[in-house]
Amino acid sequence: MEIIITPDYEAMSRTSAEIIAREVKRKHDLVLGLATGDTPIGTYKKLARMYKEEGLDFSKVTTFNLDEYLGLAPLHENSYNYFMWENFFKHVNVSAHRLFVPQGNTDDPEEFSEWYEKKIQEAGGIDLQVLGIGRDGHIGFNEPGSSFASRTRVKALYEQTIKDNARFFEREEDVPRFAITMGVGTIMDARKILLIASGKGKADVCREFIEGPVTSQITATALQLHNYAIVVLDEEAAGGLERRQYYNWVRDNKHVVEKRIGR
Ligand code: F6R
Repeated sequence: MEIIITPDYEAMSRTSAEIIAREVKRKHDLVLGLATGDTPIGTYKKLARMYKEEGLDFSKVTTFNLDEYLGLAPLHENSYNYFMWENFFKHVNVSAHRLFVPQGNTDDPEEFSEWYEKKIQEAGGIDLQVLGIGRDGHIGFNEPGSSFASRTRVKALYEQTIKDNARFFEREEDVPRFAITMGVGTIMDARKILLIASGKGKADVCREFIEGPVTSQITATALQLHNYAIVVLDEEAAGGLERRQYYNWVRDNKHVVEKRIGR
């Protein structure tokens, strides 16, 4: 894993947007996996600015979102589909028929999940998957104990996740108890992975998933087994890392490192 520590949320957002933009420029029909939540909002804003000011072109990009609350219709204002339109899609030149978000109000989640996996395959697989991380270590909604082999399916949300996400709802009781989420296996199939994290509240889990043992109890630790995972953190989220000096040396000597490892 490549660990990039940035000073603050603003810099984390800029760095992650630059990484995504680099991939979009490299491959105009990129297949991009996307996340919702507070963390990527700044990244999406930066990408929207790159589209407006520099003409970064999303017209051929296909996107697949990680997850959606089960039971919420796409236009529900707490749905992740709504979030994506408000925070990203409507601000750039994406093509609506290339945007995929799990359908929360499907009658048959199992059949839908199989269809979603098939769509990802048909698109040629995910080139770059963007992830946030929950305080319980989840990626997507792969809560503690999710198999590293799991595929898109329904998952019951962990108590901590329900509490953390209650801020978006009027009352905690309104937070759906289930979600459709890509599995850890689906995420791990992406050619490249970019995980972003910000704030003190994520410091413990960032130390655990970057420097701790691999365990399905912290599903983000699966990234240690991926051959191209980049983690962009702000100072607060990086607060617990023991090997930060090493990560910073690699970051500051990127040209030397890249020459050596041939990226
Ligand atoms: C959202 C998702 C979740 C979030 C995580 C962090 O699509 O898959 O794993 O990335 O819950 O959320 P924030 O960024 O709000 O702290």
